[in-house]
Amino acid sequence: MAKEITIKWRPQPRQETFLKACGLAPVFEGKRPEEPEAKVIGYGGAAGGGKTDSLLMAGAIACLAFPGSNAGFFRRKYTQLEGPGGAIMRSKELFSSFADWHGTNRRWTFPGDGVLEFCHADSEDDVYNYQSQQFDFLLLDEATHFTKFQYRYLMTRNRATVDGITPFCAMGTNPGNVGHMWFKRQFIDPGEPEEVHMVEVEPNRFESHIFIPAKLEDNQKLEERDPGYRETLEASPEKERRQLLEGDWSAFEGQFFPEWRRDIHTVEPFELPGYWQRFRALDYGLDCTACYWIAVSGSGQLYVYRELWQPDRRLSGAAAKIIEMTGPGESISYTVAGPDLWNRNQDTGMAGVEVMRKQARKMGKDFPMRKADNRRVEGWRVFREYLAPYRGEQEEVTAQMQIFSTCRHLISDIPALTHDDNNPDDAASEPHSITHGPEAIRYGVMSRPPNKSEDEEEKQERRQRRRKRAKPKVSSVTGY
Ligand SMILES: Nc1ncnc2c1ncn2[C@@H]1O[C@H](COP(=O)(O)OP(=O)(O)OP(=O)(O)O)[C@@H](O)[C@H]1O
Ligand SMILES: [Mg+2]
Repeated sequence: MAKEITIKWRPQPRQETFLKACGLAPVFEGKRPEEPEAKVIGYGGAAGGGKTDSLLMAGAIACLAFPGSNAGFFRRKYTQLEGPGGAIMRSKELFSSFADWHGTNRRWTFPGDGVLEFCHADSEDDVYNYQSQQFDFLLLDEATHFTKFQYRYLMTRNRATVDGITPFCAMGTNPGNVGHMWFKRQFIDPGEPEEVHMVEVEPNRFESHIFIPAKLEDNQKLEERDPGYRETLEASPEKERRQLLEGDWSAFEGQFFPEWRRDIHTVEPFELPGYWQRFRALDYGLDCTACYWIAVSGSGQLYVYRELWQPDRRLSGAAAKIIEMTGPGESISYTVAGPDLWNRNQDTGMAGVEVMRKQARKMGKDFPMRKADNRRVEGWRVFREYLAPYRGEQEEVTAQMQIFSTCRHLISDIPALTHDDNNPDDAASEPHSITHGPEAIRYGVMSRPPNKSEDEEEKQERRQRRRKRAKPKVSSVTGY
């Protein structure tokens, strides 16, 4: 960067973490930039955390540090860029002392001829307006306002225009909006924040991503200037409060399990007492096998402690894998599975359970199976009971079911379920890929409803039996 330029703006601690991920933090100490830590840097969470300021400064510093480079600063709508509080106005406060504004082109030019341009892509197709453009630094503000298609298309415009530059994309955003799910899947779900993860963005194409969480308390400048802002957020409805104040990604409109909280429902793996009962819950479909190992504590608390989630068509292969993944000393009482497995295959004449039993026999193992109670609405209700938060012995907020943090698919899929359009008490079966884990757990919890619902169910069953004058159902446990 040219010596005579002084930049008054200084990053606050979390903003510095973000700029470090972009490789730009050393510039504030008068040093050369470093390589960005990832190809795409997501910076997100609470409203007012300092994201827009950071994106603007990242663009300016990058343009100064790399003469001739190009940065594109995007919002979905042009009106979101201009006007009071918009990024253009803020950029004038931040850049005027060292860069030139060209209002007609909505561009800043920096000493060394770097260019930062304000852009927008309102409709889905508007991204094609950028077909012939290239940005060394692609900056998307309020990234979840963009559709996944727009985001991925704009990524194709993110490439080096000058030798020696490693292009990157940086995005700032709050949770919510049309892009909530793609952002969550690509930046929150892959794992720990502030660590680089290789994310499969297309089949067999991986890209390095990093997520820097933003909280309102990160922005002390704003908190000092406007202490009432926090109070306003605190007084907003539950979902908005969680999204905008806490930067919580698991709450969104239409969510089937709004009670899901990563901090309450997941736990770091720990050693489970050997005497706790264990069982497995299995959802088998032509496109995917999802199996969970569940331990039951003395007080009836469920711990989902292992996950098998694999696209596999062969049932024998799935059975073999389940057996292999089960420890030698692990005693599994039963495997509860969807009733479909008891249907005979028209070609082979064999039921799925028989195929699994055969495979288990080959491997010298038992495979006791239990046909799941497949009442969907009732199953989800019991599932919800298990998720209901309550105060534990140490006053901590907990729930009757907790999932080991290693069960990645399940942790991502439970909060992603939405309501079925035709029956709000049922979960939607689309997108299909996210239903396998939750369905398996539904079978699992129905095999051991919490005490309250057991009583209710018993009563209901008795009433039903009386009505139908049917014989009591025989137990559906099959010991293999
Ligand atoms: N490092 C800084 N130095 C001085 N002021 C800052 C700094 N960072 C942020 N601010 C001030 O805090 C205000 C809010 O920050 P900013 O707009 O970047 O937050 P945000 O996370 O983008 O908020 P939103 O979620 O509402 O878009 C800014 O307008 C600016 O005035
Ligand atoms: Mg902002």
